[in-house]
Amino acid sequence: MKVVPKKGIMEEYGIAGTDQRADRERKYEISRKLGLSPSAIQSVTSFFEKGIQPERKCSGLPCYLGGSSRDTASSLSGDSCPGYCDHAPVVQRGNVFYSTKGGVEQEIEEGLADYVLEKRQSIDAYMAAGGYSNLQIEIHDLRGVIERSHLKGMGGAGFPVSLKWDSFRKSGSERGMLLVNAHEGEPGTFKDRRLLELFPHSVLDGALLAAASNGIRKVIIGIRSDYDNARMSMSMALREFYEEFGVKSREKLPDTIEIMLVPGPYVTGEETALMEAIEGNRGEPRLRPPFPTETGLYNLPTLVHNAETLVAISEIANGGSFRKSYCLTGDVKKPGVYRLPMGIRAGELIRNYGGTDPSSLKAFMPGGLSGGILPISMLDTPLDYDQVRKTGAGLGTGAVIAISGERCMVDTVAAVAEFFRRESCGKCFPCRYGTFELSDLLQRLKNGQVKAGDMDRGKMIAQVMMDGSICALGQAAGKVFLDSVSRFSDEFSQHLGKKCNAGTCGFGGH
Ligand SMILES: Cc1cc2nc3c(=O)[nH]c(=O)nc-3n(C[C@H](O)[C@H](O)[C@H](O)COP(=O)(O)O)c2cc1C
Ligand code: SF4
Repeated sequence: MKVVPKKGIMEEYGIAGTDQRADRERKYEISRKLGLSPSAIQSVTSFFEKGIQPERKCSGLPCYLGGSSRDTASSLSGDSCPGYCDHAPVVQRGNVFYSTKGGVEQEIEEGLADYVLEKRQSIDAYMAAGGYSNLQIEIHDLRGVIERSHLKGMGGAGFPVSLKWDSFRKSGSERGMLLVNAHEGEPGTFKDRRLLELFPHSVLDGALLAAASNGIRKVIIGIRSDYDNARMSMSMALREFYEEFGVKSREKLPDTIEIMLVPGPYVTGEETALMEAIEGNRGEPRLRPPFPTETGLYNLPTLVHNAETLVAISEIANGGSFRKSYCLTGDVKKPGVYRLPMGIRAGELIRNYGGTDPSSLKAFMPGGLSGGILPISMLDTPLDYDQVRKTGAGLGTGAVIAISGERCMVDTVAAVAEFFRRESCGKCFPCRYGTFELSDLLQRLKNGQVKAGDMDRGKMIAQVMMDGSICALGQAAGKVFLDSVSRFSDEFSQHLGKKCNAGTCGFGGH
């Protein structure tokens, strides 16, 4: 099949290129047209220039574990996650994705528009399975049903959905809007892309139910701008829905449902950063309070839900229970997205779905890079928000990353720290400074250039990051460091003595 690479995202937005003088001229022209100062234009464009690149080699943890740093065949440098973590390591050129597993470059079929068109859920199949049925009847107390289901938001924070609705209603929800967060960008998390591409009617149904239950008249679906196939599938779903229901259920539908492509790096997925980006500002998190349910997008009360949370809402409304998409990557034989009842044990997921003996592992991340790293003695932990929280870690997005017994933990934690360093937006000092310091410290530890006193300083910095960062990115970067140093203290001590049992660090040897 012939795939025509598309223009890069920066070209599409007309804000960057290789010719710096032409870029500058274009920015001056935009500033004149909009009546804004050139520095205001520069402030915004410099943020998005750092964002999603059209050509990239992913350096997120699943790709790192898959050997991306050893891939010297590709001239591309390390960059953000394109969302095909089960094919790690991944490179992207235009809108074509390749797995470079074992040093052999192979096109990822799932990344093709034709694949999505063939596999996506049709409206007929969705309705035959009971989908959209609750839009035809009055929604009696969906809030109560949601509360009894114990549904928590699946975008990372795990906040109870019914409580968020209460807070939104208190702020005068009829003035407000629903913002669907589909800006997925954390390495190891690729569930939302799958849901938007293959189950778009479930996402839309959930959004319409949440809107109808809370009297919302405006819905914005904010999709990460390089998720081309997700945007295509969601747009088709919207058109199919209007063809089927447009007239019959109009009074129950919001006045507008808009799909918006939002560029920007990982941090733009943070709900207030997403609002900033949509409003045309740098996609950086806001200080809270006020919370989005009080003052959100365009200063209006805003209910923000992750795309998967909306799928769960549609499942609860149409069938009574919901499932969770666990993204399993890292050192497992069968990585993938597994949609299962909430609460499967980590070991069971790795053995029964990942096809891997959990005893071959040393550690696992229960909730992506932000959720922390646990030793395998905790593999019995049920993967739900409350149970994982009891271990001191977090379920986050439900991205489980397995780490083999042969790995060096310092090397693994250093790769995570480097991710946080690269993705820090720099708005607040603890994170801006701390992510650089911790990444540098761990790189030096790998090279045998760290003294015990440096580790104490690192711990102090990490604590300040947890206490003083504006958003969960900086807080998580500090927490992952502190937790890893205490949980895997033997390995950190070993490195202080210039030894690495895995033999992967600068001084090598056993
Ligand atoms: C750095 C960072 C990135 C985030 N990225 C996403 C994202 O891509 N998608 C998402 O839904 N939530 C993301 N979140 C969480 C959102 O801020 C917010 O909690 C979520 O969208 C709320 O929806 P929920 O209650 O349905 O989970 C991110 C948070 C942080 C701190
Ligand atoms: S914690 Fe980091 S990512 Fe979040 S606002 Fe501060 S600098 Fe930006």
